[in-house]
Amino acid sequence: MRTMPAILFVCLGNICRSPLAEAALREEARRRGVALEIDSAGTGDWHVGAAPDPRAQAIARAHDVEIGHYRVRQVTSADFTRFSHIIALDHENLANLQRLRPAAADAELSLLLDHVPGREGEPVADPYFGGPVGFAVTWADVTAGAQGLLARLTESDQPPRV
Ligand code: 4NP
Repeated sequence: MRTMPAILFVCLGNICRSPLAEAALREEARRRGVALEIDSAGTGDWHVGAAPDPRAQAIARAHDVEIGHYRVRQVTSADFTRFSHIIALDHENLANLQRLRPAAADAELSLLLDHVPGREGEPVADPYFGGPVGFAVTWADVTAGAQGLLARLTESDQPPRV
């Protein structure tokens, strides 16, 4: 049984967007004193065991967050029961998760920006083949997503209003 919400962020390589989403949510949750289990993974296996892309490490460090110790892993079928929320960074990753989801799994699948009012359905763009500006956009997007997600999670912890 889960004792707290458990959040898994998923992108393609697990070296750019999903580790940054993991870092942004860890930071927001720490600041607000909210207990969450948080992890990230990739749908692809090319980079398994590697550290995040140096450009992702640099943008996190620019915001005083260290992610150099994170290591890439691939999504597994066990993730669909271990995590309460599996959050894809773009539509391709979401489609892959829907295909991989075991029939009995209860994890809620969504896009990260579904949690940002007014940005529902938007992807977080893949910065891998671009320059450093793309990573600043990614950081802004994952921070907005983390804040929206936390607002939603902490609201749903409140007793229902009568
Ligand atoms: P990510 O970015 O999915 O945000 O980690 C990518 C990382 C690696 C590749 C593509 C996107 N790649 O083609 O190796």
